Amino acid sequence: MADHSTPVEVDWESLRAAAVEVAAHAYAPYSRYHVGAAALADDGRLLVGCNVENAAYGVVLCAECGLVSQLHATGGGRLTHFVCVNGEGEVIMPCGRCRQLLFEQGGDELQIMTPRGLRTMADVLPQAFGPDDLHHSGR
Ligand code: THU
Repeated sequence: MADHSTPVEVDWESLRAAAVEVAAHAYAPYSRYHVGAAALADDGRLLVGCNVENAAYGVVLCAECGLVSQLHATGGGRLTHFVCVNGEGEVIMPCGRCRQLLFEQGGDELQIMTPRGLRTMADVLPQAFGPDDLHHSGR
């Protein structure tokens, strides 16, 4: 587990390069839009994912789905830093559904590289519904 009292210098260019690399493995024969996602976990682990489409178009797995699966498949923990790119290597925003997926795993503090610079999850998904809300259902 990383020591959160010490600011960690994150190499965003390396993280982005990992996203670019995995985007090349996307299975996107329908949209032809490749996406690669890369993140760091709080123990420093690198996680990646690419989009995987399906002949039943709505069944598409976004790149973030694979990344979140890898987080848990390799020991769990929390996401701390995230970036995703398209097939041209340009930084893109995670879709709305995937912001929700990422919020569950990284919370408000998750650092996200966006086309407009560094943002937090709280910036890009304000007042997110999350696990804490389930404890206040009044039932
Ligand atoms: N896509 C992702 O993988 N992640 C996102 O956050 C945005 C969209 C994929 C889904 C689909 O395979 C392609 O991009 C075009 O929408």
